[in-house]
Amino acid sequence: LKSISVSVIGLGQMGSALVAPFLNAGNKVTVWNRSAEKAVSLSGLGAHVAPSLLAAIEASELIIVCLRDYDTSDALFKNDAIESALKGKTLLQLTTGTRAEAERSASWAHEAGFSYLDGAIMDYPTVVGTDACLLLASGPEAAYQKYAEYLRVLGGRFTYVGSNPAAANLLDGGLLTIYYGATFGFLQSAAMLAAEDVAVSTLKHALDSFLPVLHSSFKRCADLISRGDYSGNEASVLVHSLGVQSLLKRAKSAGVEHDLLELFTKHLEKTTTLGFEEAELPAVFETFRSQ
Ligand SMILES: NC(=O)c1ccc[n+]([C@@H]2O[C@H](COP(=O)([O-])OP(=O)(O)OC[C@H]3O[C@@H](n4cnc5c(N)ncnc54)[C@H](OP(=O)(O)O)[C@@H]3O)[C@@H](O)[C@H]2O)c1
Repeated sequence: LKSISVSVIGLGQMGSALVAPFLNAGNKVTVWNRSAEKAVSLSGLGAHVAPSLLAAIEASELIIVCLRDYDTSDALFKNDAIESALKGKTLLQLTTGTRAEAERSASWAHEAGFSYLDGAIMDYPTVVGTDACLLLASGPEAAYQKYAEYLRVLGGRFTYVGSNPAAANLLDGGLLTIYYGATFGFLQSAAMLAAEDVAVSTLKHALDSFLPVLHSSFKRCADLISRGDYSGNEASVLVHSLGVQSLLKRAKSAGVEHDLLELFTKHLEKTTTLGFEEAELPAVFETFRSQ
């Protein structure tokens, strides 16, 4: 694979993790950050430190952006000098954002005359550059294919998710919502067990065996939602309500914060009100969906 020139804009916790994988693969890497001190250690690894954002863009054919948010990125990039330097190049936006932010960035790029890919990093900086790391990208397929092999150094599971520039941000939002739901669930659970003198390591060990159950629950939710039919003979919403009430009772008697469990109760009550008392748990989807 012949080497390319890549610029990384934004050297925060995530941006700075994107640099070494490109350097290690033999590419020419230029970096720029508002606070110059964050570039020092990367310079030690062999990255060129650009004196300005404009110089960083002029230095490379592929520009990777990882900043706090899209507004920060717009404030830096949306001006004539930067736009004319970007002409003919490819920009991959890895900042976390919404569908609307990806769409407005794609139209901006179209008008300014450069290729635009939008993406998302689905893991932590220490995982970046390993086979395990999942990243998503969307936008024009030709632009993705041109750099796919180079981008793979950021993560073995770099995945193209479609030509709609918003696709990566939409999936990022979906996966992050599950990430927070599951992580908050773990933290609630750890607090409840800590109050009963059960070590978090014991919980973690049990969870490892329980993960397949979660996996099949997600699959079941997807099946029932796509069928639009929540009937079944596994466990009714009524039975789940009793289960959650029992959890609430345990949290209260252990003196543990239980807002999250109250929220589960609220959704189960609403589900019942909607007439799904005898249905399976995925019927709770009806309480979340936009009407
Ligand atoms: N960290 C993670 O695990 C992770 C995982 C997936 C996705 N992400 C996403 O990656 C993006 C960056 O996250 P991070 O963890 O690297 O955040 P961070 O450490 O807070 O870095 C923020 C970056 O934005 C720059 N910035 C902020 N305000 C600026 C301004 N007004 N003008 C110019 N530059 C400005 C910072 O520059 P200074 O150094 O000058 O402040 C820094 O380069 C976010 O969208 C985040 O959601 C992060």
